[in-house]
Amino acid sequence: MITVHDKQFRPHIKEDLIQKEVERIGRELMVSHSENAPFFLGVLNGSFMFFSDLMKQFSAPCEIGFLKAASYEGMESTGKVKFHESGKLSLQNRDVIIVEDIVDTGNTLSALIEFLERYQPKSIKICTLLFKKEAYQHSYPIDYVCFEVENKFLLGYGLDYDGYGRNIPEVYILNE
Ligand code: IMP
Ligand code: MG
Repeated sequence: MITVHDKQFRPHIKEDLIQKEVERIGRELMVSHSENAPFFLGVLNGSFMFFSDLMKQFSAPCEIGFLKAASYEGMESTGKVKFHESGKLSLQNRDVIIVEDIVDTGNTLSALIEFLERYQPKSIKICTLLFKKEAYQHSYPIDYVCFEVENKFLLGYGLDYDGYGRNIPEVYILNE
């Protein structure tokens, strides 16, 4: 059990299982995207660890870039999402693969897709480590999912609780 701020978390998805699923998704991406030089777009901060592990599984030509999203305070989704680019994103006529740590309500994702339309990409696909299917409120397809998870608060492997816990190498769950 670990404590972050005022809450306790227990282990939920072990490191070796995460790596196995990351390898599986990496293979799927190689099958569908090794010929078209995709642009992998990581959503910071949460995706940094997943993004890094996933990219090591993709051995074909590609570009990478990042956007910073902020929508969450504490444990509640605020519904307001902002994006900040880090450098110029050349996405025009590219196959873009958004890489997320977690899709919860999907509000962040839907705002991001709308934001990306100004770049006129050829296609947009979604790749996420975790998917809270029951909480999802949108219809945009989630193309690549490592784990479908229940609607509980998770921590680690990039995911934070009020800024802390992102460096934990596996996924923990709130102990209620
Ligand atoms: P959505 O907009 O509701 O889909 O939420 C997406 C964002 O909320 C994610 O990128 C995370 O930053 C954050 N988030 C959602 N669920 C969790 C969780 O269980 N733990 C930590 N952060 C979460
Ligand atoms: Mg995030």
